[in-house]
Amino acid sequence: MANFLSLKNFEKNELLKILSEAKQMEQNLYNSNTLFSSKILTAAFFEPSTRTKLSFFAAAQRLGMKTLDYLPEFSSLKKGESIEDTIKILEGYSDILVIRHYEEDIFSKLDTSIPLINAGNGTDEHPTQAVLDLYTIQKAFSKIDGLNFLIVGDLKNGRTVHSLLFALNNFDVSIKLFCPQELKLGKNFFSALDQDFLKRISYVSKLELTDIDVLYMTRIQYERFKGKKPKGLEKLYRLNPSILSKAKDNLIILHPLPRLEEIPKEVDSTKHAYYFKQAKNAVPIRMAIISYCLKK
Ligand code: NCD
Repeated sequence: MANFLSLKNFEKNELLKILSEAKQMEQNLYNSNTLFSSKILTAAFFEPSTRTKLSFFAAAQRLGMKTLDYLPEFSSLKKGESIEDTIKILEGYSDILVIRHYEEDIFSKLDTSIPLINAGNGTDEHPTQAVLDLYTIQKAFSKIDGLNFLIVGDLKNGRTVHSLLFALNNFDVSIKLFCPQELKLGKNFFSALDQDFLKRISYVSKLELTDIDVLYMTRIQYERFKGKKPKGLEKLYRLNPSILSKAKDNLIILHPLPRLEEIPKEVDSTKHAYYFKQAKNAVPIRMAIISYCLKK
């Protein structure tokens, strides 16, 4: 059994194994799978979710598992129960727990005998999203090494960006970053990356797509701002047709979703739009991650 909490220093070998298991899972998605039919997966999400929670349920059910959905707003949390107690109870009812929480250090407070999967801990990480991002890239290009990335948006608060960079730290890729001045990655963030990889990362001051293979867009995480919230920051990097017209023919655009105004709807019908395919890839990837956690 293993937890899946962070991609910081995650073994490259294990990552590649998950990607290849996801491929198998995808090929057999519609065959009945009884691999874990005696097991129960519980989701405990303390922040909103559409894709992550439902794709975990879909993944679990495709593996023959049953699912439980703990909803904090209708639970004893409302009577003052602590998260530690709540998780102890859920542990007794389940074989694996998928948790999303607004605190960065939530997992250091939890100690369970069943595997835990991090579905987002505050602004810190969202490791399962990053693995599905890699899977989508690998499907599109049949490789990850050698690609040029441009990562755009709320780099400071966007946990998917953090996990993606930790994952890409294992590959020979070049990375450009573009964001509003106040939303750069925290200084501490870089200390977790290899020196070699750091040499291949740089901020750019213009949203330009020439040479880019993978454009990774993100929304502004307005809910994370304290005090006065800015408005319409994403207009600074809206993907308008004149920017896109300079893209390489095989550029793919990824976005963890939900989007705000950074990707106009017109982009959806272009060959570059991969974000809905990306969302669909969540199911085989999360099947592979559940299997990694239960088997290991
Ligand atoms: C992301 C998240 O929750 O961090 N959503 C997701 O899981 N696909 C991105 C976001 O909310 O912006």
